[in-house]
Amino acid sequence: MARLALLGGPKTRSIPFPPHPVLDERERKAVLSVLESGRLSTFVAAPGKHFLGGEKIREFEQLFADYHKVQYAVAFNSATAALHAAVVACGVQPGEEVVTTPYTFTSTATSALMANAVPVFADVDAETFNISPDAIEERISPLTKAITPVHLFGAPADMDRIMQIAKKHGLKVIEDCAQAPGARYRGKLVGTIGDCGVFSFTENKNITSGEGGMLITNDERIADVARLVRNHGEAVVANQPRTYSSSILGWNYRMTEIDAAIGIEQFKKMDQFNQTRNRLAKKLISSLSNMDWLAPQRIPPEDYSAFYVVAFRYDEQKIGIPRKKFVDALNAEGIPFGAGYVKPLYYSPIYHENRPFIYRHYRGAADYSPGVCPVAERLHFRELIMTLVCRPPATESDIDDIVSAVGKIIENKHELEAYNP
Ligand SMILES: Cc1ncc(COP(=O)(O)O)c(C=O)c1O
Repeated sequence: MARLALLGGPKTRSIPFPPHPVLDERERKAVLSVLESGRLSTFVAAPGKHFLGGEKIREFEQLFADYHKVQYAVAFNSATAALHAAVVACGVQPGEEVVTTPYTFTSTATSALMANAVPVFADVDAETFNISPDAIEERISPLTKAITPVHLFGAPADMDRIMQIAKKHGLKVIEDCAQAPGARYRGKLVGTIGDCGVFSFTENKNITSGEGGMLITNDERIADVARLVRNHGEAVVANQPRTYSSSILGWNYRMTEIDAAIGIEQFKKMDQFNQTRNRLAKKLISSLSNMDWLAPQRIPPEDYSAFYVVAFRYDEQKIGIPRKKFVDALNAEGIPFGAGYVKPLYYSPIYHENRPFIYRHYRGAADYSPGVCPVAERLHFRELIMTLVCRPPATESDIDDIVSAVGKIIENKHELEAYNP
């Protein structure tokens, strides 16, 4: 009789992990109050305030700015939209380059393409999984205009070194904080260190508004241009008739009042959500610390991660089980884990056969060949395993199930010899 669920034995866990996001009466009431107000998007309907959005949007922005102690927060309908606006607002011109990590979500890089600029990929650090400052330096060219570090899985990138490099070369820094709201780098909230920071509120993020994004900055010009990009390039001036005239190329990246109302309620709970994430993630990491074939993402002790994801380097040689077999076995036990994250972005067809973006006057040498970022490749194709489940409303007993399942697989690893996917 097999013991492992993968081979027909009983599952460690037969019920799903608790559903996320956590929504309660507060979000419900907030949505109803917007419906009752009759204003779903004041951008269009209220005289005098079109450009800045409705009441809920402005309240959400103010809360976000106050929390981060920055002057400006601009809400968007996604982080992708906010990243694109950030690239434009940072003055990146067609054919210029933005250096970023290949180990991230697609729009960290495509936001440059949307401005006819060119992403250039710099490798990541093998232990923190975040962009390596040394690799950034190697990629700087006369065309480089900005750096977009990502605080991957909630853990801050090495911002001191990144800011030094930016200063030395006169570059803008756009922090992609989509996975890290409330995270701190050496005591400083992420998003407040670079020229601007961008957050995401899509459904599986630390806080959600359904869909949504936020850009924060202390630079008035970045805030103004970001608002223009959000609003068809059209600045509607308070108490003056609308001109329907666009100053710059803009889209409709506006958040709705309902999204903002949900975002406000979620934002009020963000610190508490992050504390739960930290508690659960640290419990998982410490419970697995005797397994020398698993190395958690390195988070320097002076930093605070938002633990969007808990990720480990898996050492196939040491444990003697191929990564895929191990992850399949965990999944079969009822424990959601993934092998790898997003394939290093330069593997996407968009950087090869489709290439819709190639700016015909581009004079640089961006390289999208396999092998350009070997550490990211090794992590993705061979080493990284990760889970999203250390988040509210999960509890310690949910984490105990993960630890039991890992222990069970190790005890019965001989059974996996019969499993050949
Ligand atoms: C690192 C990173 N950047 C950008 C985004 C894009 O966010 P959104 O889905 O809000 O556009 C995501 C979301 O998955 C992300 O993880």
